[in-house]
Amino acid sequence: MTVSPTRGRFITLEGIDGAGKSTHASWLVDALASRGMTVVATREPGGTALGEMLRDIVLKQRMTHDSEALLMFAARREHVVQVIEPALARGDCVVCDRFTDATYAYQGGGHGVAREWIGALERLVHPTCNPDLTLLFDVPGTESRARLDRMQARGRELDKFEQEAQAFFERVRNVYLARANAEPRRFRIIDAVRPLADVRADLQRIVDSL
Ligand code: TYD
Repeated sequence: MTVSPTRGRFITLEGIDGAGKSTHASWLVDALASRGMTVVATREPGGTALGEMLRDIVLKQRMTHDSEALLMFAARREHVVQVIEPALARGDCVVCDRFTDATYAYQGGGHGVAREWIGALERLVHPTCNPDLTLLFDVPGTESRARLDRMQARGRELDKFEQEAQAFFERVRNVYLARANAEPRRFRIIDAVRPLADVRADLQRIVDSL
């Protein structure tokens, strides 16, 4: 008799641009792997060959905000069906850099796409595949804008979203915080203004608690 493995955990990482999420993501993946977990590290938009092509388009091209949301969900459908669901079914832990909370925050909060629209797409695209745990790396819009400006001054080319004004990031952040407050069991808010070591100590506690 074959015993089916326990479904793996689905962990997502969120936050406005410049919160340091990507640096923390790789540390978290290593920490989970060192605990013996099989970890699938992935990202959105992206995570599949088509998803990465769509990422290139949405991060560079100007388009209507509705189209932006639709392309995010097209990439997400591929990702859920081809990568995330199979990994969770095998019992692997999936760590995904951004997921649907980002569409509510960026396209909804940042660009004004109706919440109902995003909700309808969410129900169609991944009706049963939802994160078990979401880490929200939180920084104020001023901090985000200042960090991105420093990166640019050091020669980093900024994408379409990273070029947005501070007020855009404030709107995105407000949606993230509202979602975190509405679902406190799923979200952990991590104050990402603090030094790297302090943020890591929080992450270590979270890894230990899994
Ligand atoms: P990001 O995750 O910040 O990657 P990197 O760390 O490599 O810059 O970049 C992805 C961008 O895509 C980010 O600005 C947010 C945006 N985005 C949306 O607007 N909506 C979405 O649904 C997703 C997943 C991302």
